[in-house]
Amino acid sequence: MKALVLAGGSGSRLRPITHTSAKQLVPVANKPVLFYGLEAIAAAGITETGIIVGETAAEIEDAVGDGSAFGLRVTYLRQEAPLGLAHAVLIARGYLGGDDFVMYLGDNFVVGGIDGLIERFRQERPAAQVMLTKVADPSAFGVAELDASGRLIRLEEKPARPRSDLALVGVYLFSPAVHDVVAALKPSARGELEITDALQGLIDAGLPVGAELVSGYWKDTGNVTDMLEVNRLVLESLRPAVEGTVLDSELIGRVSIAPGARVTGSRIVGPAVIGPGTVVENSYVGPFTSIDRDCTLADCEIEYSIVLRGASLRGVRRVEASLIGRHAEVTPAPRVPSAHRLVLGDHSRVQISS
Ligand code: TTP
Repeated sequence: MKALVLAGGSGSRLRPITHTSAKQLVPVANKPVLFYGLEAIAAAGITETGIIVGETAAEIEDAVGDGSAFGLRVTYLRQEAPLGLAHAVLIARGYLGGDDFVMYLGDNFVVGGIDGLIERFRQERPAAQVMLTKVADPSAFGVAELDASGRLIRLEEKPARPRSDLALVGVYLFSPAVHDVVAALKPSARGELEITDALQGLIDAGLPVGAELVSGYWKDTGNVTDMLEVNRLVLESLRPAVEGTVLDSELIGRVSIAPGARVTGSRIVGPAVIGPGTVVENSYVGPFTSIDRDCTLADCEIEYSIVLRGASLRGVRRVEASLIGRHAEVTPAPRVPSAHRLVLGDHSRVQISS
């Protein structure tokens, strides 16, 4: 079995954090979301992995390399434009050959890995196997309809009037039977070759398509509340490790301090993770906070937040439920005159107490 990981796309759809970079590299607990998928693939015993890349190819290749860090053998497959999930299968056909494969959307996060899904596929040998999860806003997803016996009968991409609240999770298993269906697909109204149409094609051809319900799924929609929540979820199972320097400080609960980080005169209440090269001085870092590499926190209080690489917060309290972008600077305003001075990127959102 091979893996096909989709890490193409333009990187412009995820607002505000990925205006300038690949959405698959958005960090969850200081690790790119894509890495969790690659780890799940390796944990399932798969080595041969094709990664679909687009405009952000350089960034993805830089982060993943040849895949050996994950125990994978990675081949990069260039997609000239994001023409759909099934288009990715189309261009990967030569690479995939006659093998079964797991297709994994690189910006999706599945709690609990994919071992169970693969095991069931191996036992039952359907043409395809998908995972479904209940969501509050099905019209933003591929939506599945099951018959009374729980068999998958219909799939629709982002329907205006969803027939159920069951969304397709971004991990799919396929036998090579999918290639004939994909080869015959026509672009949808939004101009993409849809994977839901490919699955529907298999069902319509009378081939078995298995579906199972899972919980614990996150799709990168650019929604900060969701990102904070998935960050919390991952930090819940953080392994504490203090590898950096800690002086005159109190660490409570599960705290991870990366090598090269420096914490002085501070109190950190876990679960929280502090990245390499980050300096925390005279500050409080509260639960469910991820501070990425090379950040500076001085005289501030922060909790339930994500701070990306190279950002700095000085003299501000208290920051909560926030997502601070790369190299952002947060400082207090002078008391007189009482005014806010803001330099905010496109699509930024701030809440100011005034
Ligand atoms: P998304 O762009 O999220 O695809 P979607 O159809 O779920 O769209 P929307 O954001 O509108 O809900 O892509 C999912 C993943 O697949 C993401 O990692 C980008 C990647 N991708 C490709 O590699 N090639 C493609 O042609 C498309 C559409 C996506």
